[in-house]
Amino acid sequence: MKAKYINLSTNFDDSIFDELGLAIRNGKLVVFPTETVYGIGANGLDETSVKKIYEAKGRSSDNPLILHISNTNTLSEITKSISCVEKKLINAFFPGPFTLILERTPTVPNVVTSNLETVAVRMPSNEIARKIIEHAKVPIAAPSANISGKPSGTEVCDIIDELGDKVDYIVDGGKCDIGIESTVVRVVDDIPTILRPGKITKEDILNVVGKVKVDRHIFEKCDFNEAVLSPGMKYRHYAPNTKCIMVYSSENNKLVQKINDIVKDNFNSLVISTTENISKYNAKYVLDVGSKNNLNEISKNIFSTLRKVDSYNVDLVIIEGVTREGLGLAIMNRLIRACEYNYIEC
Ligand code: TXA
Ligand code: MG
Repeated sequence: MKAKYINLSTNFDDSIFDELGLAIRNGKLVVFPTETVYGIGANGLDETSVKKIYEAKGRSSDNPLILHISNTNTLSEITKSISCVEKKLINAFFPGPFTLILERTPTVPNVVTSNLETVAVRMPSNEIARKIIEHAKVPIAAPSANISGKPSGTEVCDIIDELGDKVDYIVDGGKCDIGIESTVVRVVDDIPTILRPGKITKEDILNVVGKVKVDRHIFEKCDFNEAVLSPGMKYRHYAPNTKCIMVYSSENNKLVQKINDIVKDNFNSLVISTTENISKYNAKYVLDVGSKNNLNEISKNIFSTLRKVDSYNVDLVIIEGVTREGLGLAIMNRLIRACEYNYIEC
């Protein structure tokens, strides 16, 4: 492995952040933990550094990156005027698992925004992330730590395999608390519009601003040439190599029955099941993703579970869907994309 591994998962002393901050300023790639998923960070104000991120991930250059900040004072350097609704969102959800799309200044290199007039900004709440940004003294551009198209990295063991030879540092902060990426919002005509659902839910936003919209592309496949508010919506994402199907029913008996019907025709299969149902399936393998009654647990485990499935060499992965209420919306968005829109509701 090329990367220097730094383990901060149990404790850390602050001197390490000088080295990491300097590394970012000197154009290095640093994988670091956040409360959502791990990011591959680089100096967000330097074009050459940011280009390395796209190379490491194999990411298309028309899919822009989020700038991570540690202080709202930085907003005046990278964004233009901020509206009243945007201010409310910033006050309520920074720091945290929330990304806001804002009009950008020329200080932000085109390579960060893929030439868009806007820039995505997020202030993570994770202490290690915040300290690295503070010591870097520049905003850190960072996408999720995974090869493009794969599930996002939430544990360092997965990331080392995939990116260990492509980055300069891997900072281990343990398993990410939330496990799925931040909620991405753009305010359109004064209405906060969710472009990617996450831990900050539409109900949370409604409570703060009194209005909210969910972009229809969250559950609909988009045409490659279609104009979308967020380029990330267009790309294959979160999908294992093995074929996946997702099944959902609000009635648990129906759900189990339907999955067992599919298993009958596909014995060499694996079911990703909620804890309550693991003993009910006849598939060759069953993986437990967490309790039906605890969406936080499912969210935390979902990507690490999806990453395991290819090693079982099965013909089909069948995934239990969850409610679309609250955090369930974000989980279902990721699952539907992991299945490449191959899902059944019954
Ligand atoms: O939780 C997160 O957001 C993680 C951690 C590392 O902070 N980051 C992350 O980044 O998920 P990434 O690059 O994997 O996803 C960023 C999403 C993409 O779908 C991208 O298209 C969208 O945000 N995006 C970035 N800039 C945008 C812009 N100016 N307008 C619309 N969408 C934008
Ligand atoms: Mg990503």
